Amino acid sequence: MDYKDREVLVEVKDLQQYFKLGRHGVVKAVDGINFKIFRGETFGLVGESGSGKSTTGRTMIRLYKPTGGEVWMKGKLASGKIPKEDIAYVNRNMQMIFQDPMACLNPRMKVIDIVAEGIDIHKLAKTKEERRQKVIDIIKLVGLDEQHLERYPHEFSGGQRQRIGIARAMAVEPEFIIADEPISALDVSIQAQVVNLMNELKEHKGLTYLFIAHDLSMVKYISDRIAVMFKGKIVELTTSEQLFAKPLHPYTRSLLSAIPLPDPITERTRRRIAYEPAKEHDYANNPPSWHEVEPGHFILANDQELAKWVALYK
Ligand SMILES: Nc1ncnc2c1ncn2[C@@H]1O[C@H](COP(=O)(O)OP(=O)(O)OP(=O)(O)O)[C@@H](O)[C@H]1O
Ligand SMILES: [Mg+2]
Repeated sequence: MDYKDREVLVEVKDLQQYFKLGRHGVVKAVDGINFKIFRGETFGLVGESGSGKSTTGRTMIRLYKPTGGEVWMKGKLASGKIPKEDIAYVNRNMQMIFQDPMACLNPRMKVIDIVAEGIDIHKLAKTKEERRQKVIDIIKLVGLDEQHLERYPHEFSGGQRQRIGIARAMAVEPEFIIADEPISALDVSIQAQVVNLMNELKEHKGLTYLFIAHDLSMVKYISDRIAVMFKGKIVELTTSEQLFAKPLHPYTRSLLSAIPLPDPITERTRRRIAYEPAKEHDYANNPPSWHEVEPGHFILANDQELAKWVALYK
């Protein structure tokens, strides 16, 4: 389907998140980013450590108040001063899964109460029995079972804890889930299981994901589209196939060159391309802005770069 015909579920507009550092300093963790997420897709957000990925997710879910810009969900404002009648909708339909499940699960709460928290807040169960049944259904859906309900988070393995985190997010039947590096704290052997679970839930429930990750090799297989973030800005955004087939921005090319190759002989000759902004662009004299070089392929570029990159498509 042409991307122009797709329903936009979430839109991020000129979002900024600045943190004050000491008396004068400021960290521009998120510095004016724009993207739309279509219903039913997995939208990957990648970039190196400190590029602002988690801050983007945390600002979207309103753990932080944005310095500037807006988040919209299904045509409703989902940041700043949300109209009263939309608050319940936004709270319920945007959920988050965290990198470190131990840190976000209350150690003094039993699994049943952790998972039921959203059910209680949004009054989704009329009786205690209905509440318990809803939790049992969801806990089974994530691959745990009824006997786990009365246990505490420390009694579980890392992979199981992440399943509890997923169950908690899923319990209110949200439309949109932000997953912030949900598998990077897990054993490699468990990672695929959790990714598979998330994919199954997505199919089953018609979910939409923002999937945050460090490296491109992982998001490639799960994302429909990918945004590449560098120092608070998105530098490139396109479909997964296009990003791998036609990476334009030098930072994207640098990330791609960091992916190990499966063939040991070519792997030996693989060279990591460094990205040194000062050598690549003259942004002091010719600052960049956000352009669509080909339908659906966006890039942060100045005029000279834009001319060069558009020519690649001719
Ligand atoms: N609460 C905060 N107060 C001050 N600075 C912060 C805060 N949170 C993040 N930062 C800074 O903002 C920048 C972006 O951080 P963020 O955690 O969003 O990056 P990230 O892309 O998620 O990195 P990682 O891959 O390591 O998780 C960093 O320079 C970080 O130090
Ligand atoms: Mg992070």
